[in-house]
Amino acid sequence: MSDSSLVEVICENNIACITINRPEARNALSLPTLLRLREILSDIAVRKDIWVVTLTGAGDKAFCAGADLKERRGMSEEQVVEFLRNIRGTMNDIANLPQPTLAIINGHAFGGGCEMSLACDLRVMNAQSLIGLTETSLAIIPGAGGCVRLPRLVGVAKAKEMVLLSKRMSASEALECGLVNQIADSGSLQQAADVLVEQLLANGPLALQAAKAAIDLGSDLAIDAALEQEAECYSRIIPTSDRLEALSAFAERRKPQFKGE
Ligand code: COA
Repeated sequence: MSDSSLVEVICENNIACITINRPEARNALSLPTLLRLREILSDIAVRKDIWVVTLTGAGDKAFCAGADLKERRGMSEEQVVEFLRNIRGTMNDIANLPQPTLAIINGHAFGGGCEMSLACDLRVMNAQSLIGLTETSLAIIPGAGGCVRLPRLVGVAKAKEMVLLSKRMSASEALECGLVNQIADSGSLQQAADVLVEQLLANGPLALQAAKAAIDLGSDLAIDAALEQEAECYSRIIPTSDRLEALSAFAERRKPQFKGE
């Protein structure tokens, strides 16, 4: 049985808002926290009524301070391996959600916290916070997708600078190198996130899922295979009623009412 208070989720109005809830430990990812998060993610992944997913941390100090270093200290090598399997699996669960995901980086994001945001599709960040893959300063390496997802996002040169220097990067630098999509002062961060969510919800939910899949699956393929993949993703939305609704709405000069069908 997992401790449900470690990660909270509110599902309403087609949005799932997930909050890592360990502010006293700067939302560090302990094994029970990961297990609870994975439970939530596996539920959301199959919910047709959830069109957008947001992920944030409780409190205002940290989005997530990464792996729980106090828990790690008491672990055997075998337990560390098992933990790494789980944290890697958790980030893959986030990345593999069919719905678009938004990381609301409301405080510092280090190590696994940064990796958690990298597994999301969009990132909006508190302008006063820092972000980085700081594992090498602890004599370990990013092991939950960071060495793989960061260079794909910001390029190999910037990723090496960040990882090898164990850099705690400012929000403005993160914006400049494309690591985050947008920054906002702490007082207006939630509002900025809400606007992004509204913009996502204004689009066809199944089209968002198909576009996400086409980009994710296609980005590691050679161009011909990627184009075939895009065609396959397009074919999924041709029979949807939302597609016909969008055409009717355009003709009738009104906003479409999507149903995710
Ligand atoms: N694992 C476990 N506990 C952590 C933690 C982590 N990754 N990060 C912070 N905490 C705990 C602290 O030990 C402290 O606990 P205590 O009150 O029992 O002493 C509490 O959270 C508050 O931490 P503190 O450092 O006092 O808070 P802060 O707001 O001044 O700083 C951070 C926040 C995130 C900048 C700082 O805690 C930090 O640098 N943490 C380590 C981040 C890191 O290196 N992550 C990579 C992991 S691979």
